[in-house]
Amino acid sequence: QDIEKETTAIVDRHEHREGSLLPILLDVQMQFGYIPEVALRHIAERLNITRADVHGTVSFYHDFRSQPGGRHVLKVCRAEACQSMGGEKLAEDVQTALGINWDETTSDGKVTLLPVFCLGLCSCAPAAMLDGKLHGRLDKANILALIEEMK
Ligand code: FES
Repeated sequence: QDIEKETTAIVDRHEHREGSLLPILLDVQMQFGYIPEVALRHIAERLNITRADVHGTVSFYHDFRSQPGGRHVLKVCRAEACQSMGGEKLAEDVQTALGINWDETTSDGKVTLLPVFCLGLCSCAPAAMLDGKLHGRLDKANILALIEEMK
């Protein structure tokens, strides 16, 4: 992928509107799965802001990642309904099983673990999303099975 070229195209699409930084960053992350340093510098240059400004925005929003993600993305819900159904314990079990914390990727590049605030599956709490697919009524056994099944 030519990061610089594709970032240019994204900036071209949004540049004219006010508050273009967020939509640009969202598109960049969509395109590459994270915000590469090259893209970050390029965006700063084009929008005439400092690299630190762009970086500040990237680190402020939880959804942006500055490292490439794992092959699989597991998002575990941390919002209230899930918390009340053992979500905290579930999250701990997942972190222990994977040996990583929130926003980290396993050393083999297999899984990135992200916190998420409500997946709209509160009636089936606790919930998680693996590669875009929702899973509810999770417990230690079935979430570990999901992790196990990932290739
Ligand atoms: Fe977890 Fe809504 S609170 S899915």
